[in-house]
Amino acid sequence: MSGFEIPQTHRAVIVQTDTTIRTEERPIPAVGENEILVKVSAIAVNPTDWKHARRINNPGTILGCDFSGIVVQAGQGLRVPVKVGDKVAASLRGGVDKERGAFAEYVKVSADLAWIIPEGTYTFEEAATIGIPLYTSVIALYGPNSLKLPQPGDANPPAPGTWLFVYGGSSSVGQYAIQLAKLSGYKVITTASKRNHELVESLGADLVFDYNDPDVVHRIKKATDNDIHLVFDTISEDYTYPIILGSVAGEKPAKISVLHKPNPEFAEQREDVQWLETFIFTAYGPTVNTKDDEEERAVLSTFLWEKLPGLVTGGLKPNVIKKFDGGLDNVEAALDYLVQGKASGEKIVYTI
Ligand SMILES: NC(=O)c1ccc[n+]([C@@H]2O[C@H](COP(=O)([O-])OP(=O)(O)OC[C@H]3O[C@@H](n4cnc5c(N)ncnc54)[C@H](OP(=O)(O)O)[C@@H]3O)[C@@H](O)[C@H]2O)c1
Repeated sequence: MSGFEIPQTHRAVIVQTDTTIRTEERPIPAVGENEILVKVSAIAVNPTDWKHARRINNPGTILGCDFSGIVVQAGQGLRVPVKVGDKVAASLRGGVDKERGAFAEYVKVSADLAWIIPEGTYTFEEAATIGIPLYTSVIALYGPNSLKLPQPGDANPPAPGTWLFVYGGSSSVGQYAIQLAKLSGYKVITTASKRNHELVESLGADLVFDYNDPDVVHRIKKATDNDIHLVFDTISEDYTYPIILGSVAGEKPAKISVLHKPNPEFAEQREDVQWLETFIFTAYGPTVNTKDDEEERAVLSTFLWEKLPGLVTGGLKPNVIKKFDGGLDNVEAALDYLVQGKASGEKIVYTI
């Protein structure tokens, strides 16, 4: 009755016991309450995908988080106005469930974790890049347990000239974080390798410095008149914390939003610093191995349904795309590329 012919089975990328992945035939999953079934047009690959395949390794589960396509079936009790035939993109936690994962021909996903692609804006490939990178930026910047910044269009913008330091501006997460921070009214300072300075400036960064420069902390403090109190570290590793801690001013308390909890050597170094950790899957609701946070989920889905389409229509730039060939059968090549640290200012996508 959906108007789309849905097959009994489809192909999906399955995590294997030896940490490799393989394309296998799977039954089409039945949609439940507030769920939609999407025929996939494009998928995008994130670092978390190789971590789920090779480190977390739940054999038999479908890998992949981010995808786009056309809604072919809608369940009961939808919390958002989505319907069969809509072009959508969405994100979910892949590599933990045998029925759902983005690297497949059909994906079932909670409707409120999708968003409708406004006609005449993004291609399916561009829309697939939004998932984890943008959703994470939304929670790290606006989430109830993070920086809680004013959102684009809110009535309480920051004081003019307030700095936000986005560490790692050329990463997939960083590219969206810069744009959101600018739309929220902040002055943005960021770091990237020299080859990506033009890219981050094109996204709106006011200042960019090369994190490979041994003098980077001094340059950041000088350029901002030693006035940084808000940071989003989109990389969050032992090698990023010294630059961040060195760059925050120290005259009033600072908030640092991170994606991985720093070890005590960094976490306990400064009493005037509040560390705020984002783990995006807590906002995705009941999934295996994560704690859930309904408030985060509400912030995220409200953003996806009330703000994102307007921002996309208004010129929000998708991640720079690097297309890999071979579809689902060649996803291992993308995992290798990310493990080897080759991604620089780019997002790997496949057309399905
Ligand atoms: N906790 C969560 O919920 C969550 C959510 C999303 C992502 N993450 C994690 O966040 C990290 C970033 O994810 P992503 O998808 O944005 O990654 P990505 O796009 O694959 O990151 C690639 C970028 O990292 C930059 N980079 C590499 N080494 C760096 C260094 N030493 N200092 C600064 N930048 C460096 C590179 O910048 P240049 O090329 O300019 O040098 C490159 O553009 C990953 O570890 C991911 O697993 C966590």
